[in-house]
Amino acid sequence: MVTDKRGRGLTDLRISLTDRCNLRCTYCMPKEIFGADYVFLKKNDWLRFSELDDLVEAFVQLGVKKVRLTGGEPLLRPGLDKYIHGLKHLHKIEDIALTTNGLRLAERVGDLKEAGLDRVTVSLDALDPVIAGKMNGRGIAPRAVLSGIAAARHEGFQVKVNMVVERGVNDGEILPMARYFKELGVTLRFIEFMDVGNHNGWKMERVVSGREILEQIKSEFQVEPVDLSSEHEVAKRYRYADGSGEFGLITSVTQPFCGGCTRARISADGKLYTCLFASQGLDLKSVLRAEGYDKSQLFDLLSKKWGARDDRYSEVRTDVGDSRSKVEMSYIGG
Ligand code: GTP
Ligand code: 5AD
Ligand code: SF4
Ligand code: SF4
Repeated sequence: MVTDKRGRGLTDLRISLTDRCNLRCTYCMPKEIFGADYVFLKKNDWLRFSELDDLVEAFVQLGVKKVRLTGGEPLLRPGLDKYIHGLKHLHKIEDIALTTNGLRLAERVGDLKEAGLDRVTVSLDALDPVIAGKMNGRGIAPRAVLSGIAAARHEGFQVKVNMVVERGVNDGEILPMARYFKELGVTLRFIEFMDVGNHNGWKMERVVSGREILEQIKSEFQVEPVDLSSEHEVAKRYRYADGSGEFGLITSVTQPFCGGCTRARISADGKLYTCLFASQGLDLKSVLRAEGYDKSQLFDLLSKKWGARDDRYSEVRTDVGDSRSKVEMSYIGG
């Protein structure tokens, strides 16, 4: 197995299938920037599924066992079900997960299950329709997303919900969300608002720390840490003492987890990023489309790139963030 300069392997591959999305979350794609004039990738710039197949084959040789499909919104990518089928049955990927905003999930779950998808993670930041609508930038109430979650569970998927918490915006929704998903038995993960991309107006003051979130939860419920969580896990896991399930804290700002970061990301146009906060990626599409391309080159290229990796942005972040231009979350995937 290949390791980077800090001894971290490469087990988790995240593939963005499109940079487009049908929402405009304020912390990810603020509508003032991602409006009618915003230039998204053209479909011809997207990696074809056959090109992704070559890449996945090489990543599996390097140690990848988990693939997460992201966007933008991956349900907007035509051919998704067939692609998932290939990941499961051709590449034998053990764990295939999808990150979605859940808006169109209900009508898709049957086909996704049949294709071989293992897990679904749905983004939802509030139950209150006004707050949710404000945060998703489109005024959309959570009803369709909640139906998507219910449909996915009915289909037998393990579902997690991700909630980005922003001070003064949805911190009042921490307890209502906890109560609702506890009752359902769905794992809710609270995510500290991060300084990804260049346009979300991130300020340290707007981050609600995992510690504060935990205090709020403890004010109402008895909880205990799940100490099984490996260092590779993004979320710090807790269980409710009454046995009604778990929740997680993703504390990338106040308690970073770079030491266990075994994740590589591929953008929809085929650039490889070894950190969520990178400024530049390695252009794999031009390798895949070059004259004389031979897929046996990929293994060496990728292992050299991973071997030189030294990223640990969240460990060195300062309170004022970073003024370098960084890739957008909607482009690189969550
Ligand atoms: P599974 O283990 O596959 O269930 O997923 P996960 O725990 O890695 O979580 P998921 O992919 O749902 O990530 C949740 C959120 O955590 C993302 O949307 C990001 O906001 C944040 N996150 C995930 N991976 C990283 C990472 O490598 N670095 C940082 N800083 N944040 C991350
Ligand atoms: N801070 C934290 N998480 C973010 N995401 C997108 N933007 C941010 C941000 N600024 C994550 C959320 C969302 C997923 C698609 O991307 O987890 O659910
Ligand atoms: Fe779309 Fe997800 Fe970004 Fe929201 S967080 S704008 S749903 S890609
Ligand atoms: Fe990995 Fe970069 Fe996130 Fe650290 S900041 S956990 S290195 S993606």
